[in-house]
Amino acid sequence: MKIVEVNDYQELSKVAAKVVIDLIKAKPNCTLGLATGSSPIGLYQNLIAAYNKKEISFKDIKTYNLDEYCNLDINHSQSYYTFMHENLFNHVDIKEENIHIPVGNGSDLNKLCDEYNELLHKASIDLQVLGIGGNGHIGFNEPGTSFDQETFIVKLTEKTREDNKRFFNSIDEVPTSAITMGIKNIMQAKTILLVASGKSKAEAVKALIKGGVTETFPASVLKNHKDVIVIVDKEAASLL
Ligand code: F6R
Repeated sequence: MKIVEVNDYQELSKVAAKVVIDLIKAKPNCTLGLATGSSPIGLYQNLIAAYNKKEISFKDIKTYNLDEYCNLDINHSQSYYTFMHENLFNHVDIKEENIHIPVGNGSDLNKLCDEYNELLHKASIDLQVLGIGGNGHIGFNEPGTSFDQETFIVKLTEKTREDNKRFFNSIDEVPTSAITMGIKNIMQAKTILLVASGKSKAEAVKALIKGGVTETFPASVLKNHKDVIVIVDKEAASLL
């Protein structure tokens, strides 16, 4: 695991974006695994800026997102579908058919999981972008999830719902379940880029870097991967 410490969120976003931009320049038809949440927003803004400067194009890029809420219309303001379009896809030349986001809204959720998992089996993700939850989750793989888990429906913990309630009007509106890539899917990416910023991530970053590999702290699995870059800012690194 390569740890890169930077000053603040702005620098983190720039350094993380450079990793993605360099990959796109080297392999214009690469496949990216993408995350939502606050952590990668600055990274996406830098990608949009690079696109606007004609440094990179997304016309041959395929993307696979980590997760999506269940039972939330994809056009809801807080769906991950909406998030990705507002924060990246609407601003670059990616083709809609090359965008893959799990579908969490339907009568047969298990079938939706199988379908997304099939897509992931056929895909070969060059670079997976990750954030980290306060409890060490990656994607929506909460503590206790098996490292062998593939795409599944997860009941969200109260901690995760609490963490995400800032995006909704009240805790009651926060969905109770989500569809997520499993840890096994995430680990199949050739390179993994995890970004963590701010004091609220300091405990998780400490557990990730100093702790052992354990299913009670899902992100620790990354220590078993041969190509992981972790970019942390000073606040997130404050307990190291
Ligand atoms: C998002 C995701 C989550 C977030 C994590 C951190 O697609 O899978 O694991 O990366 O909850 O969220 P933020 O970045 O909002 O702190």
